[in-house]
Amino acid sequence: MTLTNEPLNSNRDIIGRDDINDLEAILAISNTDIHASISAVKDNADAIFTWDYEKGSRPKLNRLYEKAKTAMWNGETDLPWDTVVDQEAVVMANAGGNIGPESGIDISGTPMAKWSEKEWIQFGVESQNWTLSQFMHGEQGALVCTAKIVETVPWIDAKYYASTQVMDEARHVEVFAKYLDTKLTGHYPVNAHLKMLLDDIIGDSRWDMTYLGMQIMVEGLALAAFGFIHQMTTEPLLKQLLRYVMSDEARHVAFGVLSLQEYYKELDSKELRERQEFAFEAAVRMRDRFLQQEVWDRMGIAPKVAVPLVLQAPERQVFQSMLFSKIVPNCKKLGLLDAADGWLRTKFQELGVIQFEDWADTGEEYEMFALAEGEVAASGSKTA
Ligand SMILES: [Fe+2]
Ligand SMILES: [Fe+2]
Repeated sequence: MTLTNEPLNSNRDIIGRDDINDLEAILAISNTDIHASISAVKDNADAIFTWDYEKGSRPKLNRLYEKAKTAMWNGETDLPWDTVVDQEAVVMANAGGNIGPESGIDISGTPMAKWSEKEWIQFGVESQNWTLSQFMHGEQGALVCTAKIVETVPWIDAKYYASTQVMDEARHVEVFAKYLDTKLTGHYPVNAHLKMLLDDIIGDSRWDMTYLGMQIMVEGLALAAFGFIHQMTTEPLLKQLLRYVMSDEARHVAFGVLSLQEYYKELDSKELRERQEFAFEAAVRMRDRFLQQEVWDRMGIAPKVAVPLVLQAPERQVFQSMLFSKIVPNCKKLGLLDAADGWLRTKFQELGVIQFEDWADTGEEYEMFALAEGEVAASGSKTA
C-alpha cells in the first residue's frame, strides 16, 4: 500500500532535527529541572471500564497473568543485601568499554589526557551512579505507564496482567533505589532525552501507544541492557538483582508483543505509519540518552569534547547496537518494520540496527528468563 495522499513527517517533525547523528543538537538538550521533586504530565486518556469479565478469552494473556502471580519475589528479603560492595574495585574490574587509558583511543590534546588513575576511577564511579540512576527513573516510568494501561486497555485479561506488572515495577524501582542508596555513591536526575520520551508516552491518548513506547521500546531496550550488564558485572548483588528484574522484564515485553499483535491487525496503513514514527522517535531518544552527557558535565569536561571520542570505542558501538537486539525483532513480529512501504525498516537501517530483525522475538521468550523453581529461595540472604 502506498501513502501518496499523506503528508509525510520528516526527521525534524519527529525528533526535532534533520540528521539523526547531529551531536550538537543532541547535546544541546539537557535537564533544566533538576531540583524539582515532582513533575506533572497530562495523560490525556479516558479510563475504560469493561463489562466483559470473561477471564481467559485471550488465552496467552491469561497464561502470562497466571505465571506472574507465582513469579513474584521480594526485593527486601530475596536479595543478599548484606553483600559488601567496593564500588572502586568493581569499576576497576569492569574498566573495559570506556575511553580510559587501555582503550587505544587517542585522547591527546583533550583535558582527559591529563587524568591520572584517580580521575579515571572517579569517572567510572560516576558512570555507574548515572547508569543505575537512569535505570531507576526508567523503572518509575514503567510503573506509571503500566498503571495507565490498567485504566485504558479495554480487555479484562490485559487489565489483570497489567496490574501484576504494576507490582513488579514498584519492586524494580525499590531495588534500584536501595542499591543506589546503600551500595553506590550518588544519584543523577533523570536524563532529558529519557524524560522527553517518558512524557511523550504518558501524554499520548491512544492506549496502544503506552504499550508501544513502554513495553516494546523502553522495556525491550532495558531487557537487552540489563542482560549485557548482568553478563559483564563481577558484583554478585547487582548480578542477582538484574537476574530477578530480567525475569519480570521478559514477561512485560511479552505482554506488549501479545497485546499489540492482536490490535495492530485492525489498523490501516496510515495508523501503522503513526506507530512506526513513534517507535522511531523512541529509538532515537533512547540512543541519545546513553551518551552520558551529565557524567561529563560532573567531571568538568564539555560533553561535546568527550562524547565523539566515546563513540569511537569499538565496545561502545557493539553495546549501542546491542541495545536494539530485542526491539527490532519485536517490531518485525508486530508487522511494524514493513508496513507503510517499509518506512521503519529504512529508519532502523539509518540507525544501524536492522541486523537484529531475525533474532528471537520476545513473545514467548519469557519462559526462558523465568526463575527456576527454588532459585529465589536458594539465593537470597533471608536476613531482612
Ligand atoms: Fe521494570
Ligand atoms: Fe518492566
